[in-house]
Amino acid sequence: MTDEGSAATPSTTPSESPSESPSQTPSESGRPVLGIDIGGSGIKGAPVDLATGELAAERVRFETPAESTPEKIAKVVLQVVNEFADQIGDGPVGITIPAVVTHGVTRSAANIDKSWINHPAEKTFEDVIGRDVVLVNDADAAGVAEVKYGAAKDHPGLVLLTTLGTGIGSALIHHGVLVPNTEFGHIEIDGHDAEKRASAKYKEDKGLSYKDWAHKSLQRYYETIEALIWPDLIVVGGGVSRKADKFLPLLKLNAEIIPAKLQNQAGIVGAAWLANDYATHRSEPLVHAAVDPNGGD
Ligand code: BGC
Repeated sequence: MTDEGSAATPSTTPSESPSESPSQTPSESGRPVLGIDIGGSGIKGAPVDLATGELAAERVRFETPAESTPEKIAKVVLQVVNEFADQIGDGPVGITIPAVVTHGVTRSAANIDKSWINHPAEKTFEDVIGRDVVLVNDADAAGVAEVKYGAAKDHPGLVLLTTLGTGIGSALIHHGVLVPNTEFGHIEIDGHDAEKRASAKYKEDKGLSYKDWAHKSLQRYYETIEALIWPDLIVVGGGVSRKADKFLPLLKLNAEIIPAKLQNQAGIVGAAWLANDYATHRSEPLVHAAVDPNGGD
């Protein structure tokens, strides 16, 4: 859903105050909005009731194709859309991808097929599924979901969400508004790409205990990020956050650090929220004026 003269990177709504409850932002039609989360092993999707942030139908999951090129993934995305076509009317679809997304184009591919780099992915999806698509970084979607419905619901300050998985994803949300594509998993710490030394995959590969991972990797990671951006609240997502009680209490940080709530639904829910938000507000002059790179009004 890439308009000329507007930021194609989906934005949260500048006009929306974080004190508004999500129930004030249901989809325009009142119908659920489809969110699809593309991951390294599975492609998951479900329609989302935006009044509550809950799934409006049971989630479907398909295997991610071994050769995970844009064309192959788009075919699976179409299968997900077809599953829920009856429930979502002609509404837009929110899709997450573990890559930087600017103006509908995927710009990086840390843990996915390199053919995504500089691929007009949003357009590829729109062409294949025949609907408006809002494509967003996976961690950004999860962060939005946690702020709208989850662990950081209605938080008025600076929230950092990190997902600890194969890589490290990040989302920075201030006063309810997403600053997209922060990529804090790739800051350099002690000469290394941070996610290569602190992700859940690193813990697994090295056979580290939760205690060693917390003391030897996560403490250094989070204190470095903290010194750079000073968040009020850090939310930790990714599958490993189910075991948060084994490692989060061991970290000594300035900010409060808490586990995510929405777990493996966060990407789906955040993508659906962003797709609806974009569809609802894209025609508002204020939103476009705020993001028009040409300074148009
Ligand atoms: C990617 C991010 C992604 C994160 C989690 C990182 O390697 O660069 O874009 O959000 O992994 O999937």
